Amino acid sequence: MDQLIIQGQHSLSGSVKISGAKNAVLPIMTAALMAEGESIITRVPDLRDTRTMIKLMEIVGARCSFKDNHLKIDASTVNNPEAPYDLVKTMRASFYVLGPLLARFGTVKVSLPGGCAWGPRPVDFHLKGLEKLGAKITLNSGYILAEAKRLKGAKINFEFPSVGATGNIAMAAVTAEGTTVIENAAREPEIVQLCKYLNQMGALISGIGTSRIIIDGVESLHSANIDVIPDRIEAGTFLMAGALLGKITLTDVNPDHLDSVLLKLKEAGSSIETTSNSITIEPGHLKAVDMSTAVYPGFATDLQAQWIALMSLAKGSSMATDTVYHDRFSHTPELNRLGANIKVENNTAFIRGVKELVGAPVMSTDIRASASLIIAGLVARGTTIVSRIYHIDRGYERIEEKFEALGAKIFRDKTSG
Ligand code: UD1
Repeated sequence: MDQLIIQGQHSLSGSVKISGAKNAVLPIMTAALMAEGESIITRVPDLRDTRTMIKLMEIVGARCSFKDNHLKIDASTVNNPEAPYDLVKTMRASFYVLGPLLARFGTVKVSLPGGCAWGPRPVDFHLKGLEKLGAKITLNSGYILAEAKRLKGAKINFEFPSVGATGNIAMAAVTAEGTTVIENAAREPEIVQLCKYLNQMGALISGIGTSRIIIDGVESLHSANIDVIPDRIEAGTFLMAGALLGKITLTDVNPDHLDSVLLKLKEAGSSIETTSNSITIEPGHLKAVDMSTAVYPGFATDLQAQWIALMSLAKGSSMATDTVYHDRFSHTPELNRLGANIKVENNTAFIRGVKELVGAPVMSTDIRASASLIIAGLVARGTTIVSRIYHIDRGYERIEEKFEALGAKIFRDKTSG
């Protein structure tokens, strides 16, 4: 198992190019399964999760080729609408095949994802939504079987604007008979891009980017090409590091997707300048600021762990509340091992800023927790060793190379047991 070894307190400078968004490309790949023909997706980040999704594409029968961030998916040969447990358990986003394969084949079998490090993470909204569209859902030996000759448009009102359920139901509904209205839909940029891609494929979706999405069913979709949007979570991660360690510029980024993060960083003392596709951050006097995650356009839960690493070194005390995932705090005991002073009660972390962090061995527990430990290690005195970094490889493309190019002392040790 690889680990990252970080010599802390080296300042950062220069520029870093942001990769394509993991959470955008994964549903886009499953959408490509809905059309017979070849789709080309560009700016695909080379991540463990992308590779897992490619494996899943191949299991269902698609032909894929992936090189230099270009992914070709030929879905003409898809013939096996089934997502096995082995893949779904390593990547919950595999569940995104449910809607598209049901729509195309009238039947699909997908392993039920279990819980995860952040709590139970149910899929009831996905299933209730599909039932509303007329699917018969049965659960057998840990697998969900969904069947419907042709889905029928319906009105679906989500209890919570779930990203995954909005994507899955939108994909299922595009070829349903009649009109589907999704109320309380997710408005995340990744869902916006998915819906735009479906429209490029011939779907008729309106209200994209609002909480009311209207889908007029069409008979079939055709293949289409797309360039993936920049990863706002990777961008946010580099911004938190810049706020602690030096003036850096993020390129190939969309600042509009990071409004609430940029606002919080400014409140905390950083100077920020943006152009249409770049963000420059310069550290200032770091102040403690309260933060609460929320669905888009609020502060992303996927940046909560990195924000807590930042606030660990701010002057004063602050609270960080996660309203999306109430149990997502497994990084805090690890940050405390580096000298942070964080207590968690219910879904709020109480952070008392400390003068410095001191390097120690720490363990990643999930993708974003790993990112927060890397930020903390980069700013800590001495050496930090981050183990179980397969988590970081799921969601960040060459993170250590990108930080190294900015001046950090970080390297991957492939020899550890
Ligand atoms: C996606 C992102 C993940 C991000 C999350 C929230 C991908 C691949 N993953 O996950 O990185 O942290 O959005 O922005 O894009 N819920 C239910 N029932 C359901 C579905 C969701 O109760 O059927 C709840 C969840 O437990 C959670 C909330 O709704 O509390 C939001 O989850 P959701 O938006 O669905 O997250 P994901 O799509 O799984």
